[in-house]
Amino acid sequence: MPRTFSRAVLAGALALAAAAASAQEVNLYSSRHYDTDERLYTDFEKATGIKVNRIEAGADELIERMKAEGRNSPADVFLTTDAGRMWRAEEAGILAPVESELLDEKIPEHLRHPDDLWFGFSQRARIIFYDKQDVTEPPQTYAELADPKWKGRVCTRSGSNIYMLSLLAAKIAHDGEEAATEWAQGLWDNRARDPQGGDTDQLRAIVSGECDVVLANTYYFARALRTEVDGVSAHVDRIGWVFPDQDGAGAHVNVSAGAMAAHAPHPEAAKAFLEYLASDSAQAYFSKGNDEYPVVEGVEQAESTAQLGEFKADELNLAELGRNQARAQMIYDSVGYE
Ligand code: FE2
Repeated sequence: MPRTFSRAVLAGALALAAAAASAQEVNLYSSRHYDTDERLYTDFEKATGIKVNRIEAGADELIERMKAEGRNSPADVFLTTDAGRMWRAEEAGILAPVESELLDEKIPEHLRHPDDLWFGFSQRARIIFYDKQDVTEPPQTYAELADPKWKGRVCTRSGSNIYMLSLLAAKIAHDGEEAATEWAQGLWDNRARDPQGGDTDQLRAIVSGECDVVLANTYYFARALRTEVDGVSAHVDRIGWVFPDQDGAGAHVNVSAGAMAAHAPHPEAAKAFLEYLASDSAQAYFSKGNDEYPVVEGVEQAESTAQLGEFKADELNLAELGRNQARAQMIYDSVGYE
């Protein structure tokens, strides 16, 4: 074989290999958008040669979009927050199970779907924050928030919000529907104002003096410790916090989670990406990006969350939250929780 010809063949083979490599990609549909996630994606691209393409939108919007796209959907991976939203994705039929020994081993069982439809990659707790100026003995349990002694002093966001639905769904799983209904009624009766705004607004309402006791996810407060959050950061000394139910089931936790799309055109790359999210370095970026806690044991937590201290977390399987979501909404509706 003439030398020039063999070189041409070699060049051709190299070009083909390059084409195959560049065809390696993974399409993320994500409702996350944190600066540290950028580093996450470039690290993955460097390590695997798989290019990351992203579409970002709200979770419900992405679910609708994947449903509408059906078999033609380019989505490989769906990323969102709250197991309750993953349940909506499951119900919409847009997720595929991922068989991965690595994920089963690294991610605690209660933070992933029992049939491997989604995996939690960082966690947050929904806890009690209070006004240190007006409250000397803050509630130590979720149940106490519904005690009449807190009448006119408690603030939460709306009963249709996913965090409030997941919290009540957990209550249903632990104590049954009747107790959950009584609790929702008590909490509603204790409101200092009608529900408004997001979790940061509940913290701001402590600072403004409108609310003495509120519910919020840990990362909203941790973020205010790390960076300037208007109306909160300058007054963090006024805000106290309690991880509830430490003598009982533990504080209610939820996750930021990832899943493979039902019609993923690049299932191998999707699996590789999900497994990468469980690596030590990715765990650090993924959790720190939103001031959440890593899920993989031994990974160091962010400085911001470390300031909140250790706590006992509820180990209820988060898939339960989805199963009880419709009942939770019915209960809030039945007591008039807006
Ligand atoms: Fe949030």
